[in-house]
Amino acid sequence: MPQQAIRLIVIFALVAAAFVAARSFLIPDTFGDEGPYRAAALTTIVDREIKYAGHQKCTGCHRGIAEQRSASHHHGVVCEVCHGPAADHAAAPLDVKPPAPRERGFCPLCHGYDPSRPTGFPQVNPVAHNPLIPCMSCHDPHAPEPPTIPEECGACHGQIARQKSVSHHATLPCTTCHATAEEHKVTPRLIRPDRPRERTFCGTCHAEDAASPGSIPRVDFRTHGEDYLCWQCHYPHYPEMEL
Ligand code: HEC
Ligand code: HEC
Ligand code: HEC
Ligand code: HEC
Ligand code: HEC
Ligand code: HEC
Ligand code: HEC
Ligand code: HEC
Repeated sequence: MPQQAIRLIVIFALVAAAFVAARSFLIPDTFGDEGPYRAAALTTIVDREIKYAGHQKCTGCHRGIAEQRSASHHHGVVCEVCHGPAADHAAAPLDVKPPAPRERGFCPLCHGYDPSRPTGFPQVNPVAHNPLIPCMSCHDPHAPEPPTIPEECGACHGQIARQKSVSHHATLPCTTCHATAEEHKVTPRLIRPDRPRERTFCGTCHAEDAASPGSIPRVDFRTHGEDYLCWQCHYPHYPEMEL
């Protein structure tokens, strides 16, 4: 047998031996007893101390705050999201006090502007939005109504507003294309604005025979993307055309 084949066989044997050794040393005892996991992990997890009380617990003693919160925009944000795990406090309320997040850095964890948040989620730029004053001076954390109804569409549609502001459509107010009832700003999910439905809508400015100012670029509606809606090719909030 050639020498290099013998060396190869030796290396294989060593690797196989190392694998078998590793299996018997490294795999925990109860692995595989109940499936492809360590069965003893179940008791380890059950034995861990419970840190969260659950919001039903809080309701028992803090009924007023709980009712306020469930009627507010924060109905989906439970107590311990903000106050931290509070099982100790629920068991001995006078001995252990949960912290209250009063500093300005806290609320922007959810409300700071971030383009990946869903459109309509209320967002502010913490640097520009009433700087240095604690959020709580104007918004009750348990019933966060804005003290005045936001006027700008961008208060809730930040990403769209920012995108539009650097686009060819920068000068068009949102309401040119979305007839919006004032109630949308108060109950946005119940009262929805309208939106363009037909390509003729864009034609009011961009068709060759449109009565709009001559500086607006025109396209021939019979031949330009005639089988599609305009916004299947042009994002209406950022119709960039740098080709
Ligand atoms: C058994 C009744 C009871 C339960 C259950 C309970 N609390 Fe309390 N909590 C109290 C009492 C009483 C105080 C007032 C203590 C004081 O002012 O000395 C208090 C105070 C607080 C405070 C204010 C602390 C401060 O520094 O003033 C917060 C925040 C709080 N509770 C949050 C919670 C949360 C969150 C839950 C649910 C996980 C909860 N509590 C469950 C009785 C309870
Ligand atoms: C969005 C975050 C947030 C949520 C959710 C929240 N809290 Fe608070 N809570 C705060 C902040 C911030 C303060 C401090 C307010 C202040 O100092 O004016 C506070 C203060 C308190 C206080 C002490 C002051 C007071 O108003 O009596 C209690 C008690 C309390 N919260 C209980 C609760 C309970 C119970 C829930 C759930 C029903 C809850 N909180 C949900 C943020 C929150
Ligand atoms: C865990 C995430 C979270 C945290 C932390 C949080 N919020 Fe909210 N907030 C929400 C959600 C969810 C809504 C409801 C959004 C909706 O209706 O689409 C909301 C709504 C609001 C609104 C809008 C109410 C309206 O009329 O539209 C305000 C104002 C607000 N929160 C202020 C605060 C303040 C102040 C704090 C800090 C004390 C805070 N939030 C902390 C998740 C959070
Ligand atoms: C001086 C008072 C004041 C302070 C401080 C303040 N806000 Fe506001 N906030 C307002 C007013 C007024 C509005 C509504 C008008 C607007 O959009 O600017 C508003 C609107 C909002 C909205 C949008 C509400 C909605 O329905 O979409 C959010 C979210 C918000 N604030 C969060 C915060 C957070 C987080 C902080 C702290 C970092 C904070 N605010 C501090 C006065 C305040
Ligand atoms: C208080 C916050 C808020 C303000 C202010 C606001 N919106 Fe909205 N908007 C929302 C929310 C929340 C949704 C629902 C988002 C969802 O369901 O995904 C929405 C949805 C929409 C939609 C989609 C409707 C649909 O059928 O899906 C349009 C268009 C819209 N808003 C336009 C506007 C315009 C234009 C303005 C300003 C005149 C405005 N919004 C102001 C919160 C707001
Ligand atoms: C040139 C017309 C035009 C302008 C100006 C405009 N939109 Fe739109 N918007 C549209 C069209 C077209 C759609 C897509 C309709 C569809 O897909 O059915 C749309 C969709 C939307 C949607 C739902 C879908 C999405 O992209 O999230 C929201 C929310 C919205 N617009 C908000 C706004 C806001 C806020 C402004 C102002 C900052 C604005 N729009 C300005 C034409 C416009
Ligand atoms: C109220 C008039 C108006 C309406 C309605 C309108 N636009 Fe525009 N559009 C403009 C103006 C103004 C410009 C900017 C022209 C410039 O930059 O000089 C523009 C620019 C554009 C451009 C960029 C052209 C270039 O310069 O390369 C495109 C693409 C576009 N619009 C598509 C659309 C689409 C799609 C719709 C329908 C959802 C629409 N527009 C609705 C007024 C309008
Ligand atoms: C199939 C995709 C498609 C559709 C649908 C479409 N476009 Fe375009 N559009 C383009 C392309 C690609 C260009 C750039 C090349 C060109 O000028 O033909 C363009 C260019 C434009 C321009 C700039 C013309 C110039 O001279 O600067 C405008 C304005 C425009 N489109 C508006 C519209 C309108 C309004 C609609 C709906 C009636 C629409 N488009 C539908 C793909 C499309």
